[in-house]
Amino acid sequence: MKHDEQVAIVKRLLALRESRRDQEMFDEVKTIPVSKYTDTALLDQELASAFTRYPLIASHTAALREPGSYVASDWDQFPYVVVRGEDGKVRGFYNQCRHRGARLLSERSGAIKNFICPFHGWVYGLNGELKGITRSQDFPCVDKSDYGLVELPVTESGGFVWISRTPDAISDIPAFMGRFHDDLESFEVANLVRYKKTKVVKNANWKLLIKTYLEGYHVPYLHRDTLATAFKRGQLAYDKDGPHIRMMAGRTNLTDITAKPEAEWRILDHVSIYYTLFPNTFFILHPDYVSVNTFWPQAPDRTIWTHEMLYRAEDFNGSSGQSALEKRFRFTNDTVFDQEDFAIAEEVQRNLLHGGSDHHVLGLSEGLLAMFQDNIDERLAIHAAQGTER
Ligand code: FES
Ligand SMILES: [Fe+2]
Repeated sequence: MKHDEQVAIVKRLLALRESRRDQEMFDEVKTIPVSKYTDTALLDQELASAFTRYPLIASHTAALREPGSYVASDWDQFPYVVVRGEDGKVRGFYNQCRHRGARLLSERSGAIKNFICPFHGWVYGLNGELKGITRSQDFPCVDKSDYGLVELPVTESGGFVWISRTPDAISDIPAFMGRFHDDLESFEVANLVRYKKTKVVKNANWKLLIKTYLEGYHVPYLHRDTLATAFKRGQLAYDKDGPHIRMMAGRTNLTDITAKPEAEWRILDHVSIYYTLFPNTFFILHPDYVSVNTFWPQAPDRTIWTHEMLYRAEDFNGSSGQSALEKRFRFTNDTVFDQEDFAIAEEVQRNLLHGGSDHHVLGLSEGLLAMFQDNIDERLAIHAAQGTER
């Protein structure tokens, strides 16, 4: 984010603090039917559109720096592996042997020289070519060049490796991300280091989990003893680009920034910035670390949540740096997300099944939830229309 833009956003937030209101979203109360979180047919449509036709974040590049380093999918429904080749290029493959379909890599990440199938020992190079068939005399007519790993479209951009089942989807990530791609570059997201990545199954719909992040209304209540002190009078501003939403929340120390000349304003010292990247990533720039959350549906009421924490190596040195990171991770991951945000989302999900209200009602400061839902609904409608044209 260019400095001019940082200053403009801080000014927007200072003005909102004066007015004690979030930036206007919609000018009316909205409702969302609870079937959005329970309907299996709807999930199938989401999987066929949002999760098939758009780029998904496979990994931050920090886990893929060296040739042979790989990251495997967290989601059985899309069993990919991304790996950096000897030539420095990252490639994506189905994590699946061409002989009889065994999973090649069972760890979530690591480093290999070749892919070696655990079932009968076939060997593949980092570029996917089939290099060796064990007992090859038993496969007299099999041409190895016909049995390389099945490749998936992958690209590296803005510090992330993106993958899709649809080749065109990843051809232009800067265009896909619009104005927010520049933020990844100017905050040098590619240079961050991975602290930890966790994976947990939550018993709630994937959209319900993401929506817990999309308003500040709950912060003084649900996070009364945790986040609330950091966001006193933390009004929200937002920007939208295509299907993505950027949300900015002034921290309690927002007004301290005015003591400095504008040329020295650094937005992240006073503001947390949150990106809802369509479809399933929620990415947060905190003042001194970054959280990348992804959500992978398994069922309408069950979702894999991954949380990867990244940091700037020079800001956290030695063992004291590592223990500071651990403290931040426990606070954000264990307390705020898991025990507060997602615990309540799981309660909401349980309640959906037992009757009562058939819709949720969103106040004026909860408009981003409706915007996020509209983004998905619009794309489902486009793909449904394309389907009927065929
Ligand atoms: S399934 Fe991989 S070698 Fe047989
Ligand atoms: Fe929250």
